[in-house]
Amino acid sequence: MIIGNWKLNHLKAQTLEVLDQLIAGLGDLELAVAPVVTLLGLACERVRGTKLKIAAQNVFYASHGAYTGEWSVGHLKELGVSMAIIGHSERRQYFCETSESVAQKSKACLDGGLTPIVCIGESLSERESGKARQVIEKQLEPVLKINPPEKLVIAYEPVWAIGTGKNATPEEIQEMHAFLRAHTSTKTRLLYGGSVNANNAAQVLGVPNVDGALVGGASLEARSLLAIARAVSK
Ligand code: 13P
Repeated sequence: MIIGNWKLNHLKAQTLEVLDQLIAGLGDLELAVAPVVTLLGLACERVRGTKLKIAAQNVFYASHGAYTGEWSVGHLKELGVSMAIIGHSERRQYFCETSESVAQKSKACLDGGLTPIVCIGESLSERESGKARQVIEKQLEPVLKINPPEKLVIAYEPVWAIGTGKNATPEEIQEMHAFLRAHTSTKTRLLYGGSVNANNAAQVLGVPNVDGALVGGASLEARSLLAIARAVSK
C-alpha cells in the first residue's frame, strides 16, 4: 500500500496532470494519492474506472451540524474518496489535532465506510530522551480504545524524518513496527512515512511488519511516486 500525501501542493492543472501521468504509468501497481480537499471531487472524477485511489488529508468526526469549515465522511464518500489520512503530525502541530479527536475521526471513518490512515510519530527530542515508545503508545491508546485494530491503517511517521531527507534506519523502523504489531493485530496495515523516495523504498518496505509507505515530497511527481511503487512491487 503506497499512499502519496500531497499536503498543500498542486493547483488544479498540476493535480490533473499528475493524476493523468499516474494513471498512464500505473499498470498493476496499487496506489492512492491525497490531493488538496477542494480538488477531491475533480480528482475522483478523473480516476473513475482506474485503479488509482483518492484519499483525503483530513475529515471531521461529526456527520453534520454547526462546525464551520469542516467536512464529513459523508461528503468524502459521495465524491468517491476511499480513505482519509487522520492526525498527521502537521495537523497535530499546526491545527491542534489531539489523539482523542484522531480516535473519533477514525471511528467516524470506519462507521461511514472510509479507511482511516492514522498517523503517529515522535519528535526528535522525544526520541533523543528515550520516550519514543511511550509517545506512540499514548497517541494510539484512545484510537485503539474505540476502534478495531484490524480495520485500521496506521502510519508511523517519526516527525524528525518528515521532509528532512533523514529517514529512520531499518533497525529503528523494525523496532517500532514490531512494537506496533504487538499492540494491534496481524491484520492491521502498518505504513512507514518520512523521507521515503525511490532510492530507499525497497529497503524500507523490506523491513518486517512494514506493509506500505506514506510518501510526501517524493509523491508530488508521478515519475518518482511510480518508481517507489515499482521498487516495492519487485
Ligand atoms: P516526506 O516524504 O516529504 O518526508 O513526508 C512524509 C509525510 O509527511 C507523509 O505524510
